[in-house]
Amino acid sequence: MTAFMEPFRIKSVEPIAFPTAAERRAALEAAGYNLFKIDADQITIDLLTDSGTGAMSAAQWSALLSGDESYAGARSFRRFESVVRDLTGFAEVLPVHQGRAAERLVLSALLKPGQASVSNTHFDTTRAHVELAGGKAVDLPAPDGGNIDLVRLRASFATEDVACVVLTVTNNGLGGKPVLMENIRATRAICDEFGVPLTLDAARFAENAYLITELEPEFTGHSPRKVAELMFRSADIIWASLKKDGIANIGGLVALNDPDLAARCRLELIAYEGFPTYGGLAGRDLDALAQGLLEVTEPSYLRYRAESARWFGEALRAVGMPVVEPVGLHAVYIDAGELLPGRNLPANALLAELYLEGGIRASELGTLAFGRVDPAGGPDIPSARELVRFCLPRRVYTRSHLEYVVEAAAAVVKRAEAIPGYRIVHQDPVMRHFTARLAPM
Ligand code: F0G
Repeated sequence: MTAFMEPFRIKSVEPIAFPTAAERRAALEAAGYNLFKIDADQITIDLLTDSGTGAMSAAQWSALLSGDESYAGARSFRRFESVVRDLTGFAEVLPVHQGRAAERLVLSALLKPGQASVSNTHFDTTRAHVELAGGKAVDLPAPDGGNIDLVRLRASFATEDVACVVLTVTNNGLGGKPVLMENIRATRAICDEFGVPLTLDAARFAENAYLITELEPEFTGHSPRKVAELMFRSADIIWASLKKDGIANIGGLVALNDPDLAARCRLELIAYEGFPTYGGLAGRDLDALAQGLLEVTEPSYLRYRAESARWFGEALRAVGMPVVEPVGLHAVYIDAGELLPGRNLPANALLAELYLEGGIRASELGTLAFGRVDPAGGPDIPSARELVRFCLPRRVYTRSHLEYVVEAAAAVVKRAEAIPGYRIVHQDPVMRHFTARLAPM
């Protein structure tokens, strides 16, 4: 059999909302054309993010019931810790409520004001935490969009006071492409040469490992689990949002071996998250995560995830959407700048049309999220690409849901000429894309 299918059946269901065209228009206007501000009951298909939106397995739901809610030393933490130690090889495991808390703990401990964090691409929250720690976030993606550019990485040590190197696996900011093992190893060697820690932002570690088994001949036929184990053992520190490859609705972690750095992070953990054996989570969350971390590297699951994303990408390309190739596992990215040339904030323009057409919510990875405000008061410094991201929540939507999205996308492509650009009417100084209000031009 070559046809792919979901390697699970559905045990519990949730109704979908079908707002009318008039309701969608009213909701979009009231939200200032920012889809983050639309209530979920006004959304038909929600591809905003793959973060915290996955469906848990029966085994995870039953793990919730055995959660131990003791304040200190809970059994649930020990189970989580043991699963993370096996997977990563790190001795020190700090649970946190989500990825950005982990970023804050590590970056505030590692960075001194003026120092640089160098990355293939810092995700938006990571960049914010580098900057909040007084540091400078330097992005050096290789032309493939996944790896870090090794030549520029080496050169950065001459121009910056580099405190850490961060590999975001997979590179969510630039299309969800993987960081290959070859690149991880070469980065490791450069970090050793200059004596700085290599950290992994491991939110999508299982998807990265799966892509390594497809792309690097050395790993053909290897299990994604073994590849993930090797990735982790190449790093000094990892942080992760477990709302992605933990397949649970909340959670994150820091893991490392350095006991001094771990002790410093733990002090912050206690002040901001909670006692070190629950870190802002309920015991039951830690149990669900421990189980999710075992399920996420199953080859049949990862193969289904890859094939459904590729099928979706091909279907969107067939109706005229400029799809960023190759398609990764967690999302399909559209080059909105190519579809809507000459329009201001083209990714936001495309998002608004998709919502009007079918109640579809996707997200923007373009100038609103990644561009910079010109300190001299001129127009924004645009981001490298104007992308719309259709994210695929784990184990949630079937192919017929995605077919509905493709049909709506086809209608939007047909009227692309008539779609207006957008301007910003309100923005906040940090992570403005979450709160901005826009208006058509
Ligand atoms: N790093 C990466 C690569 C991410 O994609 C995210 C979140 C984070 C860190 C922060 O984790 O949300 O748990 O605090 N990405 C989500 C997204 C929000 O939609 O891509 P968090």
